[in-house]
Amino acid sequence: MGTIYKSIDKTKISVIGAGTWGMALARMLSIYGHTITVWSALPAEIEELNKTRRQKNLPNMEIPEDITFTTELSNACAEADILLFAVPSVFVRNTAKAVSDCINPEQIIVDVAKGIESDTLMTMSEVISDELQKAGKSNPIVALSGPTHAEEVARDIPTTIVAAHEDLAIAEKVQEIFTNPVMRAYTNTDVKGVELCGALKNIIALASGIIYGLGFGDNTKAALITRGLAEIERLGLRMGCLPDTFSGLAGMGDLIVTATSKHSRNSRCGYLIGQGYEPDDAIKQVGMVVEGINAIPAAIGLAKKYDVEIPIISAVNEVINHGGSPKQAVKELMGRDTTTELSKPILDLNYESAVIKNTAIRIRGEQSMKRVITYGTYDLLHYGHINLLRRAKALGDYLIVVISSDEFNWNEKHKKCYFTYEQRKALVEAIRYVDLVIPEESWTQKRSDMHEYHVDTFVMGDDWKGKFDFLKEEGVEVVYLPRTPEISSSQIKKDLYDANAVDGESKTSHDDINTDPGK
Ligand SMILES: NC(=O)c1ccc[n+]([C@@H]2O[C@H](COP(=O)([O-])OP(=O)(O)OC[C@H]3O[C@@H](n4cnc5c(N)ncnc54)[C@H](O)[C@@H]3O)[C@@H](O)[C@H]2O)c1
Repeated sequence: MGTIYKSIDKTKISVIGAGTWGMALARMLSIYGHTITVWSALPAEIEELNKTRRQKNLPNMEIPEDITFTTELSNACAEADILLFAVPSVFVRNTAKAVSDCINPEQIIVDVAKGIESDTLMTMSEVISDELQKAGKSNPIVALSGPTHAEEVARDIPTTIVAAHEDLAIAEKVQEIFTNPVMRAYTNTDVKGVELCGALKNIIALASGIIYGLGFGDNTKAALITRGLAEIERLGLRMGCLPDTFSGLAGMGDLIVTATSKHSRNSRCGYLIGQGYEPDDAIKQVGMVVEGINAIPAAIGLAKKYDVEIPIISAVNEVINHGGSPKQAVKELMGRDTTTELSKPILDLNYESAVIKNTAIRIRGEQSMKRVITYGTYDLLHYGHINLLRRAKALGDYLIVVISSDEFNWNEKHKKCYFTYEQRKALVEAIRYVDLVIPEESWTQKRSDMHEYHVDTFVMGDDWKGKFDFLKEEGVEVVYLPRTPEISSSQIKKDLYDANAVDGESKTSHDDINTDPGK
């Protein structure tokens, strides 16, 4: 057992569920100074834990004497700061229903169960919230997920985890409680993404076990992990989740650990199926909850709802639920139509293919798409910028915006931007009139850009009038558009300082404002 860690605030935590993960976390939190009570729905389990101070799946882990046990939910709810939900996903709704009777308004729920309810397609935090709402309650619910095998946390092996809540301050509170010398917690506000990753990676782990059971090797496993993450991300992005989540600990991190570790019961179950066991027999053999199997119907339902292809998960569904042969499933996955790995720079791909197509049309002497180009810094993107881009796009079919790089701004224009090049690029790319954004790195680049991008029309604001007439020598039309009179970046920068001032008094907080004056 480690030394007592002086946590900033000693927290009272009730662990709801005395399975492998609940007990590994209970022990860790107790060692690092928190007061722990553990509840289980199974009286025999509580009796056993109390007597032996061992969890049956973690026989080498000693349970600290400070931890108390109860079979009464009302005892677990009383006085706790945090209710840590650690029951398997299939028991989450009923447990949440029972908890909703005794939970106090100031208590925070932290959920570690990973799954998606198949009939409602709700994540675990949504299921808990649904039950609380029925009882007129609305406690904050943080999803806590990541590459975290109980077997390793039980041995104080360094581990990382993600605390996710829409309100970053609440996520940070939980981050603080779960950060100690053996666990490092990160925050995320994309709760849906974190929970989706936690539930779906288990299905990919099943697949990874199956291919090992079939006798395939590491090449196949790496392919499954990579393409498995691609399909989880494809679905998640369609559902509005954030890309960072999928490359983070709850996404890639958890998928790697689940699909490669000897501790993973999902991949162990898959291994047995690959070896020829019937799915039901494999589950029995594993002897603990296999969340990947529970998550399959929901994954299929979500893919249908959001119209996203999930070939690997669909293949696992065939094997587990429809008697499909694992070997045949691999054969079919390998035989799918070929495709590209690329998804994001579709604008660039479109541009390249448009250039090739239009060059061919030009060579044949037929009319081609008209390309317009414009240059600028685009710092603090505003109405004036968008107005100019809209009018520039109206001059042709394809609009290229060349944004000055940070180095170019600094060295040649002697100015520093509020936003970096990458940030400015991302904002301009989000405008629907813009087809392609590229960097401007030197004054001389303009002449070569005209040829490289087959430009027909060069556009600038009329504050540059006459300055780029030399580009006519390159065979392009040069147009100076009037600027939007009321607005400029320098004016915005100046105005930012007193924008919040009302009658000489600065209003930075919403607390003083009566938002319901009719009352
Ligand atoms: N084990 C891990 O390493 C790990 C890590 C991260 C997340 N998780 C997630 O945590 C959740 C729990 O996993 P686990 O490994 O502790 O599972 P487990 O199989 O060890 O949990 C079994 C426990 O469920 C509880 N239970 C049984 N019947 C119940 C009922 N009717 N109502 C309420 N509770 C009941 C009991 O306390 C029992 O010990 C899962 O969603 C899992 O995906 C597990």
